[in-house]
Amino acid sequence: MTNNYRSAEEIRTSLREAVDYLRSMGVGEPEVGVILGSGLNTYGEEIENRREAGSSDPVSIAYRDIPGFRDVSVSGHNGRLIYAEISGRKVVLLAGRYHFYEGHSMEDVVFPARVLIALGIKRLIITNASGAINESFRAGSLMAISDHINLMGTNPLIGPNLEELGPRFPDMTNVYTRDLRAKLIDEARGIGVSLNEGVYAGLTGPSFETPAEIRFLRTIGADCVGMSSVPEAIVASHAGLEVIGISFLSNMAAGITGNAITSDEVNEAGEKITDTFARVVDLAINL
Ligand code: HPA
Repeated sequence: MTNNYRSAEEIRTSLREAVDYLRSMGVGEPEVGVILGSGLNTYGEEIENRREAGSSDPVSIAYRDIPGFRDVSVSGHNGRLIYAEISGRKVVLLAGRYHFYEGHSMEDVVFPARVLIALGIKRLIITNASGAINESFRAGSLMAISDHINLMGTNPLIGPNLEELGPRFPDMTNVYTRDLRAKLIDEARGIGVSLNEGVYAGLTGPSFETPAEIRFLRTIGADCVGMSSVPEAIVASHAGLEVIGISFLSNMAAGITGNAITSDEVNEAGEKITDTFARVVDLAINL
């Protein structure tokens, strides 16, 4: 029988090649991984330029040089893997992600997250930009993801199961680690940042939603909507990692204000909250 999926052995080999290459470039044993979303890459630049006393200098590697990675095509995503010590914790950052809407297979979409898992991270911090559906939320604020709804019409775990990572039918009851989220919300409050909390609906895009779709999403329990993150959260949870999701609510979702939604608006809004976002990610790394 043939299908479109690579064998578990082929996936293992590509993961091993990527990990071997990264280790040869000076990537050590990271404890925490961070995926930076649309308009949020400035954090990566900040870390590349941050020098901490007593820490080794950050290592920054272009995706195009990493075996198995593809180049990144969408503006607002710059395609670098950065390894750094942040407040004493070894962290690996993905500045730029592959989206399903670009035509990548689900396997390619989650490959970078799987490489971080293979590097040995215990915690994955996933960030993104999204449209706020919950009308009590404000555009420009942040939301800690409490759960997600996968509306991408597929699942990154379809295909052979990597048994050493997790079970064929993984439980998804507590994908976004509850205790860590509570602590993050509390500590963010301590630095004057009020985090919303809610459910992220993941759609494929690339078209933004219609107002009718937004009413539907609200009815089924979504608080915000975006085009990423769900695949990475599923593979991280499958592998037993702690997961923290932080969504930047760049705009109110379609039909709420009546204004059209543009990707420029999403990216520009991201630039305005760079600093707050960076402080919240710092907190999430150190929980
Ligand atoms: N919809 C989907 N994805 C998004 C949005 C939105 O309104 N804003 C930012 N990413």
